[in-house]
Amino acid sequence: MFHNTVTGLDKVFRNDIRRPKVVLVTGPPGSMKSSFIYSLLTSYLEQSGEFGVYTTLEESVTSHLANMESLGVQLCMNMQITDFTDIREENEELDYLKFLEKMLRHFKKVKGEQFTCFAMDSLGALYSLMDGEENMRKKMYHFFQLLRELNLYSFIIMERSQDGESNLLGNEGFLSDGIIYLGLKRRQGRLSRFLQIEKMRACEHSMELHALDIRMGKLCVLGPIFE
Ligand SMILES: Nc1ncnc2c1ncn2[C@@H]1O[C@H](COP(=O)(O)OP(=O)(O)OP(=O)(O)O)[C@@H](O)[C@H]1O
Ligand SMILES: [Mg+2]
Repeated sequence: MFHNTVTGLDKVFRNDIRRPKVVLVTGPPGSMKSSFIYSLLTSYLEQSGEFGVYTTLEESVTSHLANMESLGVQLCMNMQITDFTDIREENEELDYLKFLEKMLRHFKKVKGEQFTCFAMDSLGALYSLMDGEENMRKKMYHFFQLLRELNLYSFIIMERSQDGESNLLGNEGFLSDGIIYLGLKRRQGRLSRFLQIEKMRACEHSMELHALDIRMGKLCVLGPIFE
């Protein structure tokens, strides 16, 4: 999953991860959460021939694909993009977690063991659709358990302010198997992007900040940043 996908990611992960894993991908606006996960999955799915689902809840598919095209990431035939932005306008009363579960079970039924990857963009958008904050920890526990039961690599994109903690409403940070932090750092008047692994169960990884940049139109993980 992590080796041979995004260039330089093997600097960060010394060994790879096994399914199932629920990984939070956190960071402020513009930190390349969507681009990073989309690039990672496209590359992984193309090489493995497996199947993945990328669910976008707030950004339209057109806008998402335009951004990916700008970064030179090609459309991947093994990845289905599902767009919830239309549904949200029509259904006030919909139970979105149940709807997601139905969708994922459907793909598992149709694609079987080929279906290995899922990304949800984003958790904050999902919460904005769900009523109230009651029992969120319980609901998220069950949702993450479902993702594990389906034996998926799941990447849950979650907005997080600079230096904010990795929990929104449901103690997601504690419930997940991994936390990837994508951040922005101001150095000499310039903003630079970085990636840091805060948690990855059953994996040996670096704890350092690694620079993240676009090199020759491609997203790359560069060396560690020292302060
Ligand atoms: N061709 C390009 N070269 C360099 N940077 C680019 C290019 N295309 C897009 N970007 C950068 O990608 C950023 C958007 O990345 P992305 O949408 O993945 O971030 P995000 O963390 O998902 O943001 P949000 O929280 O708003 O969803 C833009 O702000 C821009 O800086
Ligand atoms: Mg995004």
